[in-house]
Amino acid sequence: MQKILILDFGGQYNQLIARRVREHRVYCEVRPFDLPLEEIRRFDPIGIIFTGGPGSVYLPGAPRVDPGLFDLGLPILGICYGCQLLAQMLGGQVVPAQNDAAREYGKTETVFDTGCALFKGLPEKSVTWMSHGDYMAAAPAGFRLAGHSAACPTAAICDEKRRFYGVQFHPEVNHTAYGREMLRNFLYEICGAAGDWTMAGFRERAVAELRGKVGGGSALLALSGGVDSSVAAALMAEAIGERLQCVFVDHGLLRKDEGDEVEAAFAGRALRFYRIDARARFLARLAGVEDPERKRKIIGEEFVRVFEEVGRRIGAVDYLVQGTIYPDVIESGKGPAAVIKSHHNVGGLPERVAFREILEPLRLLFKDEVRQLGRELGLPEELVSRQPFPGPGLAIRIIGEVTEEKLQILREADAIFRREIAAAGLAESCSQYFAALTNLRSVGVMGDGRSYDYAIALRSVQTGDFMTADWTRLPYELLDRVSVRIVNEVRGVNRVFYDITAKPPATVEYE
Ligand code: XMP
Repeated sequence: MQKILILDFGGQYNQLIARRVREHRVYCEVRPFDLPLEEIRRFDPIGIIFTGGPGSVYLPGAPRVDPGLFDLGLPILGICYGCQLLAQMLGGQVVPAQNDAAREYGKTETVFDTGCALFKGLPEKSVTWMSHGDYMAAAPAGFRLAGHSAACPTAAICDEKRRFYGVQFHPEVNHTAYGREMLRNFLYEICGAAGDWTMAGFRERAVAELRGKVGGGSALLALSGGVDSSVAAALMAEAIGERLQCVFVDHGLLRKDEGDEVEAAFAGRALRFYRIDARARFLARLAGVEDPERKRKIIGEEFVRVFEEVGRRIGAVDYLVQGTIYPDVIESGKGPAAVIKSHHNVGGLPERVAFREILEPLRLLFKDEVRQLGRELGLPEELVSRQPFPGPGLAIRIIGEVTEEKLQILREADAIFRREIAAAGLAESCSQYFAALTNLRSVGVMGDGRSYDYAIALRSVQTGDFMTADWTRLPYELLDRVSVRIVNEVRGVNRVFYDITAKPPATVEYE
C-alpha cells in the first residue's frame, strides 16, 4: 500500500491535512518532524508533506528536518511553516513580514501558474487561506515562483525537477477554494498515487493481522453501543470469532430501541455477546437523586460494580480490545499505541480483568473511516452513523430525579426529533442534536381540558471540537413539525422549547 508521510511541525490544521489525503484514498500517517531518516526510509512513503507550525524558521531552536531527507528523491510539499522551512534549508531567505500587509491573514485572492503540476487544471485566480507572519523574501536556487497575491510574490514555489513544492497558504482548509484539488494534484500528478486506500482493503489486512497476532488466544471488549466500540467489535469478531467476548451493559439510560439495536447488530455474528440487563439496579440507585454531580458519580460507581461482577465470571483473557481512533493517537503526541482511551462507559473494566495486552484495531483510522469500515462490515446504518452520546446517557438529559416515566417520555420525544432531523436531510450537518426533559411542568389546554405537563427542550449544536458550540439555525417549519408531533404523540408533554444558547455560556448537555 502506498503511503504519504506527514511531518508535524505543530500546526493547528495537521489532522485536517491527513484527513484530506485519506479522502483522496491515499494512506498517510502524521509523525513528529524529527523522525529519524532511517525510520522515514523504513516507512517508505511515496511523498512527504511538511505541515504548518507556530515557529519561525530563522530563530535558534526552530524545528527542522534532517537535511538528508532532501536527497531521498521523494516529492515534498511544504505548507506554510513547512514551505518556509523548505525554502530556508535549501538556500532561500525567510524574514519577518515588514508590515501588516505582508503579514497575511484570511481569505486572499491568489494568482497561480497553472503550468506547475500542483495547480494543473485549476483556474488561474482563486481564493486561498493565508495565515503567516513570516515571509519568503527569496526562493532557493532551482525554484521558480508559481503563485502570488497582492502582498506576497512568493505564495507558491516549485522545483519541478526535484519535485519540491511549497505554498504559503493552507490548501487543507475549506476556505482555500481549490485546496482539495491541489492536494489531489500533489498526490496523483506528482507522487504517482494509485488511490489504493480503501476500507475493503483495510478490513482484509486488519483481519489477517489480528488473526496472526491473537492466534488461538482470547479477547474481551466492553461495548458502549457507540460507533468506535461497535466497529472494533465487528472487526474483532470477523478475525477471531467466538474467542471474542463482548460485554454490553444496558443501564436503562439509552435512547429509544438503542439496546435492542446494538444486540441485533451482533446477533448473527460468531462471538460471545453478553447483554447485561442492569436497568433496574441503575434506576434503584438513582431514585430520589436530583443533584447532577451525584447522578454522574452514582452511574460511574454502578458501572464499576457491574464490571467487577462480570470480571469475576470472565477471569483472565489474553487481550483487552479498545476502540481508540487516530485523532486520540495523534493528540497524545507519543505515536501510535500509546493511548488508552478512558471512556466513562468502560471505567473499571480494565482493572478488574487480568489481561496480557491491549489491542487497538482502529488506532490508525479517522472517525469517518471507522464509519465506512462499519458499513463495510455490515453494521446497520443507525449504529454506524450514531452521533456522540454521553456515558451517563439520558440521566444527564433529565433535569432532576430520573424515573422510568420520565425516561419513557424523553425516549419518545427524542426519537421524534431525531427522525425529523434525518427526514429533513440535516442529520449530517448538525454536530449533535437531542431532546431533554426539563423539570418544568406548566398549564396547557388539550381538547377541552386543562393539562399540567412537562416541557421538552430541543437542542441542536454546530461544533468542531465540542469545546465551544453554536446552536443550529434549524428551519422554523422543521421545529414546528417536531413540536406538533411531540405534543400530539408523547403523553405527558404539553410544551416544546428550542434551546438557542451557545457554549459557552451553556454546555451541550443539560447536567
Ligand atoms: P458538554 O455538556 O460538556 O458536552 O458541553 C460536550 C460533549 O461531551 C459529551 N459529554 C459526555 N461524554 N461522558 C461522555 O462520554 C460524559 O459524562 C459526558 N458529558 C458530556 C456531550 O454529549 C458532548 O458531545
